[in-house]
Amino acid sequence: MINQSKKLQANSDISTQHIQFHNPSGNYEVLVGEGLLDRLGILLAGGGWTGSAVLVADETVARLYTSTVLRALEASGIEVTLVTLPAGEIHKNLDTVRWLYDRFQDAGLDRSSTVVVLGGGVVGDTTGFAAATYMRGISLVQVPTTLLAMVDSSIGGKVGVDLPRGKNLVGAFKQPALVVADIATLRSLPEADFAAGMAEVVKHGIIDDPDLFVHLETSGWEPLSWVLPRAIDVKRRVVEADPFEKGHRAVLNLGHTFGHALETLSNYQMRHGFAISIGLVLATHLSAKLGLCEPQLSVRLAALLDRLGLPIRYSGHSPEQVWAAMASDKKRQGNKLRFVLPQAIGNVIIHCEVQRDVVLEVLAEIRE
Ligand code: GLY
Repeated sequence: MINQSKKLQANSDISTQHIQFHNPSGNYEVLVGEGLLDRLGILLAGGGWTGSAVLVADETVARLYTSTVLRALEASGIEVTLVTLPAGEIHKNLDTVRWLYDRFQDAGLDRSSTVVVLGGGVVGDTTGFAAATYMRGISLVQVPTTLLAMVDSSIGGKVGVDLPRGKNLVGAFKQPALVVADIATLRSLPEADFAAGMAEVVKHGIIDDPDLFVHLETSGWEPLSWVLPRAIDVKRRVVEADPFEKGHRAVLNLGHTFGHALETLSNYQMRHGFAISIGLVLATHLSAKLGLCEPQLSVRLAALLDRLGLPIRYSGHSPEQVWAAMASDKKRQGNKLRFVLPQAIGNVIIHCEVQRDVVLEVLAEIRE
């Protein structure tokens, strides 16, 4: 178990950035820096490590990093059992969670134990849900290795798995004890996966950080040591204001009403970040059509996304098909379709009163 009250600062170098998350169920730090995997053992030992542990990674990430991580943990006297999962959204389900419970039992985990999860959103969400529910919850350390996981899925506490009828239909709020984001791991990411993560960074700029957005326009994504903490800090502000998504936290779903529909229609072959990129353009175009923002805003946004290597138009499905996929998402939420719409960079609103015809018009205009 990680003692969250112990200070970690003493054990990380000066260039590591510490972002403090305050949450009703416990505060934690997100560390962002270079070479943190090599120092993971020191970081955890500094947090008051006790008890047994497992390290969970998907097979792709395991090949790249587990020897470094196991060496780092063992050098600090932390003995862990390695568990590897097959990669891919198809494994984000309750069968995998059940399989993880068995591995936790094999490793002798009890309520004082810790689960360290290394990788992207799928392994983080699935393992996080297993940690949230095993023995009513054991300590979880998130070590994200994708840009998307660093700026979104590993922070804020949402964990869960998919059901055959939809994404993330089973889940929990489980705040991590610690999040360690090693920028060096992003160098091994395929270019398209890095670009997909940038869609979430752009999203955070639109929600609440105009300076971040302008920096991306003028200087691109470098330096990551500045861009990443800014994007993470937007999420911090939102989830601190509304940790259990009673209202305001829904702004983080900017681009997702359209994006989820495109992802579903592609049978999850389209990267989540690519769907969100197109969803951001559609949401901004819709906002302009409703007179809620300047028409120029969607042109400006599309130019930035395009420059970052992201798609800005969809193809292959009719506007009616996209609408139908959005409407079935609506049924899941039980009431009206909910759109998050930009009014300006750094200012978004939640809007539920949009006519079908207007949405179809917007979908027709953003189709390739
Ligand atoms: N990924 C959206 C949220 O954490 O609320």
